[in-house]
Amino acid sequence: MLRGVVAVDGPSGTGKSTTARGLAMRLDARYLDTGAMYRAATLAVLRSDVPLDVAKTTAEGNDDVVAVALGARVELSTDPAEPRVRLDGEDVDAEIRGTEVTAAVSAVSALTAVRQHLVDEQRRIVDEIVEDGGGIVVEGRDIGTVVTPDAGLKVFLTASELVRAGRRDAENTAAGRAGAADTQADLARRDRLDSSRTASPLRPAEDAVEVDTSTLDIDGVLARLQELAEDRG
Ligand code: C5P
Repeated sequence: MLRGVVAVDGPSGTGKSTTARGLAMRLDARYLDTGAMYRAATLAVLRSDVPLDVAKTTAEGNDDVVAVALGARVELSTDPAEPRVRLDGEDVDAEIRGTEVTAAVSAVSALTAVRQHLVDEQRRIVDEIVEDGGGIVVEGRDIGTVVTPDAGLKVFLTASELVRAGRRDAENTAAGRAGAADTQADLARRDRLDSSRTASPLRPAEDAVEVDTSTLDIDGVLARLQELAEDRG
């Protein structure tokens, strides 16, 4: 059983969610999908009457957008067997993975005030579990660098752009999102925004172990991560 934190970071399409969730199950730990929190906050903005200028991703952004995102009540279950996401009490797990939210999420997550708010919440969730003697696998873009810099194990997943786009396509098809916008160009755009923003850009922590998943299947990645977690445990 895992005690403490495993941080899993990396760009989209590296198998991060499947791996992090699978690892939590194997290690009898909790699981936190921080991307789902940014996605739910983005959905709140899209549902509001405040216009979101996706092309304008400055860290300051627009006060109205920030106010809606901060006002949203985002709740997550940390059970890896059923990681549901609620926005103001409504289950939005499917909607936050849709094309509209995916296209807008990098703009909302670049806002410093939104990040501060969600990072505080992420730390609160993690601290509660760790103080109770438990373990948690946390996935995102800034987990090892910002959210839990003291994590016992930090993993940074990578994969070639082509492989990542292929995985996202397969995921979209499986979820019935035919013709979804997450093509290779969209992924590249989102990665560029996530990596170049001033507030907590996507980058590996200095002490992260990089795992290239291009030629590994999910069981291969899981076996590697489990081995790393057990070595540190
Ligand atoms: O992991 P996922 O693809 O669901 O993340 C959606 C978006 O949320 C990312 O493209 C990124 O803009 C943002 N994100 C973030 N920091 C995190 C997790 C996600 O900025 N820790």
